[in-house]
Amino acid sequence: MSDKTSKVSIVGAGAVGATLAYAGLMRGFARTVALYDINKAKVEAEALDLAQGIQFMPEATVLGSNDVGVVEDSDVVVITAGAKQQPGQSRMDLAGATISLMDKVLPPLLEVAPDAIYILVTNPVDVVTYAAIKKSGMDPSRMFGSGTALDTSRLRHQIAAYCDIAVGNVHAYIAGEHGDSEVALWSSATIGGQPLLDWRGRDGEVVMTQEVRERIHHDVMRSAYTIIEGKGATNYAVGAAGARIVEAVLGDQRRIMPVSTLIDYPNVGEVCMSLPAVIGRNGIEHQAATPMDAEEKALLEASARSIKETANRFGV
Ligand code: 2OP
Repeated sequence: MSDKTSKVSIVGAGAVGATLAYAGLMRGFARTVALYDINKAKVEAEALDLAQGIQFMPEATVLGSNDVGVVEDSDVVVITAGAKQQPGQSRMDLAGATISLMDKVLPPLLEVAPDAIYILVTNPVDVVTYAAIKKSGMDPSRMFGSGTALDTSRLRHQIAAYCDIAVGNVHAYIAGEHGDSEVALWSSATIGGQPLLDWRGRDGEVVMTQEVRERIHHDVMRSAYTIIEGKGATNYAVGAAGARIVEAVLGDQRRIMPVSTLIDYPNVGEVCMSLPAVIGRNGIEHQAATPMDAEEKALLEASARSIKETANRFGV
C-alpha cells in the first residue's frame, strides 16, 4: 500500500493507461491518480468513469485533463501514450513514431513533475526508454521501462498452468527485449523452491522438458500478437503489471521485477533492456544478480544487440 499523499499520473488515456489506472485504484496504489491525454473528451470521460467507482475501491481522488498541469507534483509518472500496434506489426515497427512523440511529451512533463519516478510503458519500450533517458538527462535509476515484467507474468502463468501449480509458487524470469528476442531464464527458475528443470509431476516424470520449454517460450513471445489479432490491443495484463511496478515504488517494497534499465552490456555497449532489479522508492534500487548459463548469456547478448541496432537506426 502507498502512503496517504502519493500521486500517480498516467500519460495516455487509451486502453493501457485506463486499465493501469483501474488496476492500481482497485489495489489502492495512490491517493491521487491523474490521467493526462491530448484528447479532452476521452480523458475526462475515463476519469469520471473511474471516479464513480471509488466507493467500491480504496479511497482516492481521480483527475483527468488535457492540460499537463494535472501531472504537477506527481511522485510517479507512467507514460503509456504512443502509436498502436496493428495486427502483424512488431513492437519495433512503432519505434519512429513513438521516439518522436517522446520529444514532444517529455519536456513539459519534466517541467511540472521534475522529482517523479518515470515509468515508460510505450512500445518498443526498450528503445523508447533509452531515447527518453538520453533526451531528458534523467538519472537512469529514476526512469525505466516496464520491460519484461509483463512477459515474466505470461511465462509464470504458462508454467503454472502446465504444472498445475499456483502461479505464486513459480519463480522464473523473461529478460532482454520486451519483444521478439526476449530470453527465458530457465536455468535459475524454480517451482516451490526446486529447480524448475528438475520439477517432477505426480507420476515422477520430469515435466519441463526441452520441447515443453520451447513451446511455452514461443507462446509467451507470441502472446501480444495473438491477443492483438483477437481483440485489437492488449490491456489487462500490461495494466496489472504496470500498477504493480508503481506500487513497488510508492510502497518502497524492494520487489524484484525485470524492468528495462540502462546498462552497459559487454560487447554491445549502452542499451536499455530488462534484467531482474530491486524496485523501491528510488526507482531501480539495484540490479538483482540473476545467474545464467552460457546459452542464456549468448541469447541475452543477441537481444541487447537487436535493441541497440533499432535504437541506432532511429538515431538514438
Ligand atoms: C504486450 O506485450 C503489446 O507490448 C504489449 O502486451
